[in-house]
Amino acid sequence: MSQNVLASAAGVAVQASRRRTFAVISHPDAGKSTMTEALALHARVIGQAGAVHGKGDRRGVVSDWMAMEQQRGISVTSAALQFSYRDTVINLLDTPGHADFSEDTYRVLTAVDSAVMLLDAAKGLEPQTLKLFEVCRQRNIPVMTFINKWDRPGHDALALMDEIEQRIGLKPTPLTWPVGIAGQFHGVIDRRTGVFTRMQRSPGGADLAIEEEMSAAEAAQRYGADWATATEELELLAMTGADHDQDAFLAATTTPVLFGAAVANLGVRQLLNLLVELAPPPSARPTAAGTDQPVDGAFSGFVFKMQANMNRAHRDQVAFMRICSGRFERGMIVTHAGTGKPFATKYAQQIFGQGRDTIDEAFPGDVVGLVNATTLGIGDTLYAGDPVRYPPLPSFPPEHFAVVRTSDTSAFKRFRRGIEQLDGEGVVQVLRSEQRGDQAPVLAAVGPMQFEVATFRLEAEFGVKVQLDHLPYEVAARTDAAGREILRTEANVEVMTRVRDDALLAVFPHRWRMRSVAGRHPDLRLDA
Ligand code: G4P
Repeated sequence: MSQNVLASAAGVAVQASRRRTFAVISHPDAGKSTMTEALALHARVIGQAGAVHGKGDRRGVVSDWMAMEQQRGISVTSAALQFSYRDTVINLLDTPGHADFSEDTYRVLTAVDSAVMLLDAAKGLEPQTLKLFEVCRQRNIPVMTFINKWDRPGHDALALMDEIEQRIGLKPTPLTWPVGIAGQFHGVIDRRTGVFTRMQRSPGGADLAIEEEMSAAEAAQRYGADWATATEELELLAMTGADHDQDAFLAATTTPVLFGAAVANLGVRQLLNLLVELAPPPSARPTAAGTDQPVDGAFSGFVFKMQANMNRAHRDQVAFMRICSGRFERGMIVTHAGTGKPFATKYAQQIFGQGRDTIDEAFPGDVVGLVNATTLGIGDTLYAGDPVRYPPLPSFPPEHFAVVRTSDTSAFKRFRRGIEQLDGEGVVQVLRSEQRGDQAPVLAAVGPMQFEVATFRLEAEFGVKVQLDHLPYEVAARTDAAGREILRTEANVEVMTRVRDDALLAVFPHRWRMRSVAGRHPDLRLDA
């Protein structure tokens, strides 16, 4: 290997070790947008808090680019926000904020190295948090926990620790501990150093919190009973062995916990420090061939998200790629692992909401938006050098089905194009049913919100008003041509072809119907 290649491999390893790529997982309203904004404020990406948030009079410029999101005040698309903090590059990937679990959310979590679980102090673990946490568990993603909204009444801190341990089986290892119950937040004690930091919201709350380190004696005098309670609780925690253990955290068996209030920027600096000091940097990634691709190998990455028409001013299709190894340089010609064809990366951008900057180079852990990437699809690998291919991203069995039609015959071409687009992006799965014909494709989704997104986008982007007729099916299973013949003899089941990969799916109204049909036909292939 030449001197140059060695030097650049070392450079890539250093760059990778500086990256922290994570997502915030939370239930809607726990404060994810507020936290994103607070993190960005600390990193001074955006001059003033309020720029990310898309709600109310603080209507933002950075995220929530779809009109629908603005109407609903939710984030239904994903992107990445990159900023520097200390000497670390932080990549914060946005997960959709709606209450449905969607494939989209899952895919974002395939592209992170860690996650921050954000809990509302008054609500504890909520359904969406639990679902997202399950994905982290399946993927062995280390999770940090931030108990948010400590500035207003909520649960008891120890009770929240119990809830985490009992309900998700992760041992909480608080790094900071609050002085003052929820609603009377004075500051936090750093459990590793014993230092108390008094925290106060800045006037107006739009600036960094005012922090002041204070001796235990002074804090005890000032906060009396609250200080005594906090120190008792700390003793209890010490007795239960709830101390941070880096290996256990990386093995995803414990979760470090912090307390704060994103809206007042309290505890946010501590979270950033935690990311820098303890969250894992990108590491070698398993390939489809069963090997591990080292971060300092030649360039490789995979597409985890496709998004079209993100911005009225830029009608385009963007493939979001997470870099897994090597140095990415804009303009480099890489290979598309699926087709073996070259792919030019002339239009590489860093995209967060409406904001986009051209990027010239990027490293493992970074997310690059490839504009006008019409030949790319979700899960595709791009590489330079020796061939690499990452395992395909799993696709989830749909549970919701609806026939989509347009009564406007003059719009049929646009209708077809729109459906193809949404299928390519993975917004919905498109199925063709022999009984219904090409004019009436069936949309299939993991969560019903995906239908709303599809309907909205067909109208907003393709000018086609559509009608959805929900079908009474809830379960889909893969079958084969022989299975299709067998199933013709059964009622209450339909076999459809998934357009994306020509897979045959048998759909049933419910699981017990599927089981009874399977029981009658022992040779029938049904993979649920
Ligand atoms: P999300 O993205 O997870 O859905 O939540 P978001 O940040 O939009 O926050 C939901 C609500 O919770 C917002 O109030 C927000 O201001 C509030 N919030 C977030 N963090 C904190 C916190 O640390 N303390 C307190 N007290 N509130 C917090 P809203 O009334 O819905 O909107 P807004 O008008 O305040 O923006």
